[in-house]
Amino acid sequence: MTLNKNNLQDNKNCIILASGNGSNALNIINYFLTSKKNKGINSINIVAVVSNVATAPVIEKVKKLTTFIPVFVIPFNNSSERAIFESELEKIIINYNIGLIVLAGFMKVLSKEFVAKFPYKIINIHPSLLPSFKGKDAIKKAYDYGVKYTGVTIHYVTEEVDSGPIILQEVVKIEESDNILSLEAKIHKVEHEIYPIALEMLANKTHKV
Ligand code: GRF
Repeated sequence: MTLNKNNLQDNKNCIILASGNGSNALNIINYFLTSKKNKGINSINIVAVVSNVATAPVIEKVKKLTTFIPVFVIPFNNSSERAIFESELEKIIINYNIGLIVLAGFMKVLSKEFVAKFPYKIINIHPSLLPSFKGKDAIKKAYDYGVKYTGVTIHYVTEEVDSGPIILQEVVKIEESDNILSLEAKIHKVEHEIYPIALEMLANKTHKV
């Protein structure tokens, strides 16, 4: 898949989709609320958050952090709820004039039809160096495999899971002294460092795919 300038992002209004803890969602919101770059014309605007899990900690965390960003809960716990979830999400995307859909720990797969409606507008973070260790439990898969280096990938979402064009990657070395918990902590630290940077790259059109 190739990217040309016509595909690039002009609309900087973002929606974040998250299913669980929400550390990446919180980090991105914090970054763009506090960053001086937020005052620039090319900045990202986080305009809404959607969770598919009514009990997800991310919901209360975002509400506690700011009242300026609405948080929507649209149940999507099994595949029978996907169509309604996507239809409600699409309404929010239109109502809020969203240009970029940011998956941050969103643990469901969007349909091919939905993805096809938003080419180069859906971004995901994955805790491995894709194309290695796609799918769930990527940190553990890499650790169990015994690789010496793993990392974090930010990529566009395409029809095939964890396979879209890569925007940004960062390597994490697995030391002899690491265990699964220390590796998870290292991965999350890198995630928090590079996801906002990747969004800035998109906003400023400085990325190459
Ligand atoms: C992160 O490791 C992310 O890479 C993966 O899901 C996890 C979400 O963590 N897609 P959090 O909810 O952002 O804390």
